[in-house]
Amino acid sequence: AGGAQGLATAGSTVDSGPVVSKEVTVLFGSQTGNSSGLAKKLGKRLEEQGFQVTLSSMGDFKPNTLKKIENLLVLVSTHGEGEPPDSAIAFYEFLHSKRAPQLDNLRYSVLALGDTSYEFFCQTGKDFDKRLAELGGKELAPRVDCDVDFAEPASEWMNQVLGALAQGAGNGAGAVGSSATPSSVVCEAESEYSRSNPFQAEVLENLNLNGRGSDRETRHVEISLEGSNLQYEPGDSLGIYPENHPRLADELIEAMGWDGNESVSVYKQGETRSLREALLRYFEITVLTKPLLKQLAELTGNSGLKDLLDPSKTEELRTYLSERDLLDLVQDYSLKGIPAGQFVSLLRKIPPRLYSIASSLKASPDEVHVTVRAVRYESNGRNRYGVCSVQLADRIQPGDSLPVFIQHNPNFKLPDNPETPVIMIGPGTGVAPFRAFLSEREETGAQGKTWLFYGDQHFSTDFLYQVEWQRWLKEGVLTRMDVAFSRDTEQKVYVQHRMLEKSRELYEWLQEGAVIYVCGDEKKMAHDVHAALATILEQEGRFSPEEASEYLTRMQQQKRYQRDVY
Ligand code: 2AM
Repeated sequence: AGGAQGLATAGSTVDSGPVVSKEVTVLFGSQTGNSSGLAKKLGKRLEEQGFQVTLSSMGDFKPNTLKKIENLLVLVSTHGEGEPPDSAIAFYEFLHSKRAPQLDNLRYSVLALGDTSYEFFCQTGKDFDKRLAELGGKELAPRVDCDVDFAEPASEWMNQVLGALAQGAGNGAGAVGSSATPSSVVCEAESEYSRSNPFQAEVLENLNLNGRGSDRETRHVEISLEGSNLQYEPGDSLGIYPENHPRLADELIEAMGWDGNESVSVYKQGETRSLREALLRYFEITVLTKPLLKQLAELTGNSGLKDLLDPSKTEELRTYLSERDLLDLVQDYSLKGIPAGQFVSLLRKIPPRLYSIASSLKASPDEVHVTVRAVRYESNGRNRYGVCSVQLADRIQPGDSLPVFIQHNPNFKLPDNPETPVIMIGPGTGVAPFRAFLSEREETGAQGKTWLFYGDQHFSTDFLYQVEWQRWLKEGVLTRMDVAFSRDTEQKVYVQHRMLEKSRELYEWLQEGAVIYVCGDEKKMAHDVHAALATILEQEGRFSPEEASEYLTRMQQQKRYQRDVY
């Protein structure tokens, strides 16, 4: 745990001299771990070049030290409707407040992570860039906005930044480096496998956790990491590169009048694959983005598409992008006739899907488990399938293999102290990381109290991992469990209702220093759970609404309230 602390503390035994510009602060604001991963990589590269690096999560950063910083590199993702990651909110607000200092001596650059299928693409990174400039900061290298496939642009940005810093530092990089005590930016034994080089992992087990008659199908998938040297901790996620649904790929090929055997290039190095394989494994065909529509409108001159992109149609465009896929697009706008090679060169790489890990490596060596709910629905006259979830449900058997990697998440970690009580709120598949937490606590013999709030539709068919929770309750690994089955009673009951019923005890746990974890749906569940926590503080602790809200923010900063929400 704790990849988020400042790792190389300023003022270590470096022969400092006058070369102050050798000091670089790398600040990251990460939700799912991408920017923290990149920040660590950047920190390592900077240290290799002889820079003295302070690497910190925005959540741990003391804003009053900002004035003293000369070189600042910001890596930040955007999520939801243009919002900063949880761990970045306090720093974001500070910087945008009147308390923010003048930063005339600052040189900075921003790497923004985002997703062009969202309207407020890279908004948080753009905001940081703009604000740092307003406060007097000078641009060290231009901001780079990354789409989901961030590896290349991020690495180019790092090159730019390293180049600019090396110049600024005077006599080239490395000069001071020899005398610097190398501080360890990353010390774990690293696997050769990563997001850009996934491990082909064998599937060991693939079970439906729901009972017959349930509306849900939730797969428990066990995957072997044997031979990969991949390591993870509870709270981390597993990345899986999925394959598109063969039917969708075939219908697209047919609608466009293409030949699936035609060879097309995939990615930039000029590698080729058959079109069908490219559409199955290499390109995203289920999500539309505005840049894609723009490029297609330019390429074809299609008047209907141009019309949809007209600034007066923002709302229509938003709806269209959120509900349709590539097959709809080519049918709705009769795009037949575009050569396949040209068309696929406009598509994004298929992005990996991240799932909160449901196992503990200590309890299940060489294995990783995930809990995945199959997404199936009908809209606009067609059946739609979640790419990865339905692949896992329908087309993956034990013995098959999947390209996987570990995505570390420093923002969702068990407390270092095994005695610290934990409160876990995870309805539906949000319960996955708590299976990992309890396995870990069982395996390590941790003595702290644990309390799980779980909910789903029906007790009889949707109680995921019921037998395991009951065993842990019996053995004392799980101290308490409260469940909310929303559709077994006339009135819906949700986890937050159970929390409110137990507000007294919950408040006592908080006073004893319990850490709260929330995992699952963001927009509805996590929002309502947050409100319930505020209510509990007001009722039991006599906080005013403002105090309650500040208290929760403080808990977040102190990592006593952590969320893994999506
Ligand atoms: P529902 O489907 O009956 O509305 C896991 O998906 C569980 O979370 C389900 O029981 C679901 O109930 C419930 N859920 C839906 N909206 C919720 C909300 N706003 N807060 C908490 N739980 C919610």
